[in-house]
Amino acid sequence: MNRALIVLTTLAIGASAVYAASDVIAQRQGLMKANGKAAAAIVKIMKGAPFDAAVVQSSLKTFINAAQKGPALFPDNSKTGDDTAALPAIWQDKKDFEAHFAKLGADATAALTTIKDEASLKAEMPKIFDDCGACHEKYRAKKD
Ligand code: HEC
Repeated sequence: MNRALIVLTTLAIGASAVYAASDVIAQRQGLMKANGKAAAAIVKIMKGAPFDAAVVQSSLKTFINAAQKGPALFPDNSKTGDDTAALPAIWQDKKDFEAHFAKLGADATAALTTIKDEASLKAEMPKIFDDCGACHEKYRAKKD
């Protein structure tokens, strides 16, 4: 390989590494945005819209999907950049952070069967919203 080619190749690898980091940040923010939409659909029902089992199931599956894919989307090279709200604490205690994803996944999976009507929705959802809040409290920067 001649020198120019080596330089070009190195640049290309460098650029793709940067791209990979921002890609992963966009992916996790996309999953979280979907969580936000799914949560809003459930809150609407809790506030009086008619109970809709299909909406509830689909929202719970959105949470489960985020819980499954989330842990892989916080690699070491994605601590900063792209307006990330992820806090450094994530990389200081990765096990605890991932346990929050696991708990969300387990609670949302249980809720697939325990939520059958408006009453059970109102009884079960606070647990799941607490899972969101508990993780954000520790690991997500508060935006103004
Ligand atoms: C294991 C931790 C964890 C759990 C559980 C979690 N989140 Fe998040 N959430 C984060 C982190 C970290 C960010 C910031 C991501 C970034 O900016 O890189 C975030 C960001 C968000 C955002 C902002 C997305 C954006 O960029 O616009 C929303 C909305 C959100 N979460 C909703 C939810 C909801 C709803 C739940 C529960 C169903 C939930 N999250 C559960 C860690 C979590």
